[in-house]
Amino acid sequence: MKRNPNCDRCPLGKVCHTVCLWGEGNPSTNVMLIGEAPGYEEDRTGTPFIGQAGKLLEHVLRKLGVDREDLYITNVIKCRPPDNELPGKKELMACWQGCKQYLDAEIKEVQPKIIVVLGGTPLNLMTGMTGITKHEGMVVCHRVEGKQQIPIIAAFHPAYVLRAPGKEVRLAQALARAFKLGGIKMRINKTMEIYPYEIRA
Ligand code: URA
Repeated sequence: MKRNPNCDRCPLGKVCHTVCLWGEGNPSTNVMLIGEAPGYEEDRTGTPFIGQAGKLLEHVLRKLGVDREDLYITNVIKCRPPDNELPGKKELMACWQGCKQYLDAEIKEVQPKIIVVLGGTPLNLMTGMTGITKHEGMVVCHRVEGKQQIPIIAAFHPAYVLRAPGKEVRLAQALARAFKLGGIKMRINKTMEIYPYEIRA
């Protein structure tokens, strides 16, 4: 299966620019990061996590000494919701029914050893669990993929971290855990400030 630029499986495709935005990165990586949905910049450019939240994510990755190109980064919802406001529960579930097959295809193709869900929305849609604050930093469950059991780690969403000074460290710790379990080599930059974070300013 491939990205479907003509997708009409949910109403969001009618109101966004890049219809059905798939992830990008290293297709044979061990670690896949899964966010919520494209925002303005992502929709405009066709690249996931390229706006402010993406910049924060890259900042944290730099601190850990991991290149974003060594990972695969995608979203649960593939089209940008108007004004970046996710629809209510019922409509969101309808969108997820539409998008799920694309995410499943990405996971099948990449075969990650570890999945990181960034924020409460992918946590909920992928696992049925609620409460990111309660779960962040933990392996919350495993995704069964053929004979493989892929651990799913919850982490704060970078957009939340932008609004919550000091949470960069929690995001970095959750990612570091994923990289360790996934065998992604880190070259932690001990001198780099992780907080305060210049992009927020
Ligand atoms: N937020 C997300 O969840 N995904 C993106 O691609 C950008 C911002």
